[in-house]
Amino acid sequence: MYNSKITGLGYYVPENVVTNDDLAKIMDTNDAWIQERTGIKERRHVIKGDDTTTSMGVKAAKIAIERAGIDKEDIDFIVFATLSPDYYFPGPGVLVQRDLGIKTVGALDVRNQCSGFIYALSVADQYIKSGMYKNVLVIGSELHSHGLDMSTRGRSVSVIFGDGAGAAILSREEDNAKGILSTHLHSEGQHAEELSLIAPGMGKRWVTDIIADNDADDESYYPYMNGQFVFKNAVVRFSEVIIEGLKSNDLQASDIDLLVPHQANLRISQFIQKKFKLGDDQVFNNIMKYGNTTAASIPIALTEAWETGKVKDGDLVVLAAFGSGFTWGSAIIRW
Ligand code: UT7
Repeated sequence: MYNSKITGLGYYVPENVVTNDDLAKIMDTNDAWIQERTGIKERRHVIKGDDTTTSMGVKAAKIAIERAGIDKEDIDFIVFATLSPDYYFPGPGVLVQRDLGIKTVGALDVRNQCSGFIYALSVADQYIKSGMYKNVLVIGSELHSHGLDMSTRGRSVSVIFGDGAGAAILSREEDNAKGILSTHLHSEGQHAEELSLIAPGMGKRWVTDIIADNDADDESYYPYMNGQFVFKNAVVRFSEVIIEGLKSNDLQASDIDLLVPHQANLRISQFIQKKFKLGDDQVFNNIMKYGNTTAASIPIALTEAWETGKVKDGDLVVLAAFGSGFTWGSAIIRW
């Protein structure tokens, strides 16, 4: 059996910086509230026409491919995680295959929101471990900004989310002690609606209902989050799934060199850091600059950590995420 290893990482964020003060000009919010509750100082928003979820993913992927030292034709499979696809269907995986101009490899779309990158990584890892594929392109990308309620009504959600993309190349690794040691995935659909975007969908709000109602005040077009409930569940599930990952590899928290948590809220990261008694240099956070980029947050953070020398050969790197679904997961990696 083979292992899989991350051999290339890349990220892309749109140039347009939106500060907390910028948001305060269009809704009733302020820099102090946002920083105190979330740690976020600014985020990026795509300017319409400049980028899409797919185009950002492609830009991140090109960097990852180059850094992996492979040709795009060496990619055997694409896994794309997002909650903000360019189209209702088809998903962005095939658009990446087209826009990268590569042969007719399979392309899979993952719909697991903030845990999307961990789920995508896990899928890719299994394909490589089974021997089916040698190089898999994994992308997490989100264009949130144009789907948010930017009025005061939506402020508890819209100040948090930002746009961007991250990508990784997973390649076959012969040494089983290296690479992705294990991944751990969970869900609890009982709380599906606590962090959700209901419409349009073929459940509660059909496209035909929306057209018939023609109601400009309909909130179901926008993401809904029961913030405190999500927060309480997040801190518990983050901790559980990190412990599960460590235990399954006979490791302990003190073995962690770097934890890269999904960038949901700086307060959540700080809670986890304290719980596992990790130093400031052992937890990577960049939510201050980019906000919560959902499926893109881990690959953006991991790339920045790697670029700034915080990930070294032999390090134990732990990825963990929690979000809508609820879904959560972790990946234990020996770099
Ligand atoms: O990535 C997926 C997983 N997501 C998460 O894990 C996020 C988890 N939740 C959170 O991070 C926090 O719950 C939030 C940051 C979303 C909200 O923080 P909170 O401390 O739970 O605030 P709250 O929703 O309880 O709101 C407190 C007050 C309310 O006012 P009143 O009722 O006390 O008068 C809100 O109306 O803050 C008000 N508020 C705001 N004020 C200024 C809500 N949003 C804003 C805002 N600016 N943007």
